[in-house]
Amino acid sequence: MINGMDKLEEEKVFKDPVHRYVHVRDRLIWDLIGTREFQRLRRVRQLGTTFLTFHGAEHSRFSHSLGVYEITRRIIEVFEGRPYWDDDERLLCLCAALLHDVGHGPFSHTFEKIFGMDHEAFTQKMITGDTEINRVLRRMGDDFPANVAEVIDKTYDNKLVVSLISSQIDADRMDYLLRDAYYTGVSYGHFDLERIWRVMRPRDDQVVIKQSGMHAVEDYIMSRYQMYWQVYFHPVTRSAEVILSKILRRARDLYHEGYRFQQKPGHLIPLFDDSLTLEQYIKLDEAVIMFYFQIWQDEEDSILSDLCQRFMNRRLFKYVEFTPSNFNDYFELKEAFAKAGIDPRYYLVVDSSSDLPYDFYRPGEEGERLPIHLLTSGGDLRELSRESTVVEAISGKKRTDHKLYFPKDFIEAIADETVKTRIQELLYQ
Ligand code: NI
Repeated sequence: MINGMDKLEEEKVFKDPVHRYVHVRDRLIWDLIGTREFQRLRRVRQLGTTFLTFHGAEHSRFSHSLGVYEITRRIIEVFEGRPYWDDDERLLCLCAALLHDVGHGPFSHTFEKIFGMDHEAFTQKMITGDTEINRVLRRMGDDFPANVAEVIDKTYDNKLVVSLISSQIDADRMDYLLRDAYYTGVSYGHFDLERIWRVMRPRDDQVVIKQSGMHAVEDYIMSRYQMYWQVYFHPVTRSAEVILSKILRRARDLYHEGYRFQQKPGHLIPLFDDSLTLEQYIKLDEAVIMFYFQIWQDEEDSILSDLCQRFMNRRLFKYVEFTPSNFNDYFELKEAFAKAGIDPRYYLVVDSSSDLPYDFYRPGEEGERLPIHLLTSGGDLRELSRESTVVEAISGKKRTDHKLYFPKDFIEAIADETVKTRIQELLYQ
C-alpha cells in the first residue's frame, strides 16, 4: 500500500533558472505535483498583466510554487536536529509551501476586484474539497488536508511552521522576488538567498535570523521595496489591468442587459451569475480568458470590442498623476467625457497602489505583522529595525500612489474643439 511517507526510488529533479534544481524525494510531493489542480497553475501567469510591460514576465504560478517548495525544503534541512524544530512537521510544511497559491485563478487580482472572488477561499477548497489534491493528502491521515489548509490560512497551532510560509521573511516572498526579478530582467530584486537560509533558525513560535546575516536581510528588504515600485506597481502594468477589469465589467453588464453575444461566453456565465462552483473554477485559466478576448474583438458592442482590441494589441490607456484633492476636476472630467461620447464608466479610471515595505510590531493594529528578529550570539532576540539603520529608514512608512487612466487617442479624436480643449486642460494642468 502506498503511504504518505514513501520515498521515490530515485530523486526527481526539475531544472529551474532561479534555484538551478528543485529536488523531490517524497512520493507525496511528486503525486501532488501531478494532480490536475496543480498542473493547472502552468496556465496562470505569476505576474498577471506584467508581461505587457516586461515581455519576459511570462512565468507561471507553477514555477513559483515549485520554487517556494524548494526554498522551504532547504530551510528545513538547516533546521533538522535543532532545538524547537519537530521533524514530524516536515511534510506538512512542504505540502503547504507547494500548495499555498493553488487557488489562484487567471489574473486573480483583477477578477477578485470585479467578481468579489477570493483565491484564498479557493485554495482552502482545493485542499479540503473533492479534488485530486485532497485524495493524495489524505494518505497521510484524515486530518492532514485540514492541517495543510490551516498552515496556509495561518491558523495552525504551531506558529513556527506558519512563519516559514507567511511572515515578513518567508519562502514565498523570497522566491517571488528572485523569480520576478529574473523573468522581468530588472537589475534590482537580487539578494543572497543561500546566505539567508543558512542563517535562519527555529525559535519558539517563529523563524529568526542569526545577527551575522543582518546585511543579507537588509538586501532582501530593499529588494522587496524596489520590486514593488519598479515592477509590481508599474503604471503601464496597471493600465493593462484597468483595461482588463473594464472588459470583464462590460461583458458582465452586457450579459445582465440580455445582450446576445455572437458566441456564448459559457465559461464566464457562472461568474456573471455569481454561482461559480469549484469544478467550474478549476477549468478557468488564462487560455480560456484570452480566447474570449480574442473573439470579442469582433463583437458588435463597440465598447467591448474596443477594450479587447486594446488589450490584445497593447494599445493601453495613458495616465496622469491624480491627487484625491482634485475631485472637483474629476467630476467635471466625467461630464466632459460623457458630452464627447466617451463613456466614463469604462474610459476614465482612478487606480491607487500602496505598499508598506517593512513594519515593526504594533499590537492590536489592523494587518498586525510579526517583525523580523535577529538572534544575537548571546541568544537574545532583537527586532530588525532597531539594529539596522537602513531598515529603520523605511519601516512603518506606507507609500501610496494614485493615477488617472484614459484613452488618449479617443480624446485627440474629439470633434468638438471646446470640449476637447477643456478635457486636455483638466488632464494636463
Ligand atoms: Ni506565492
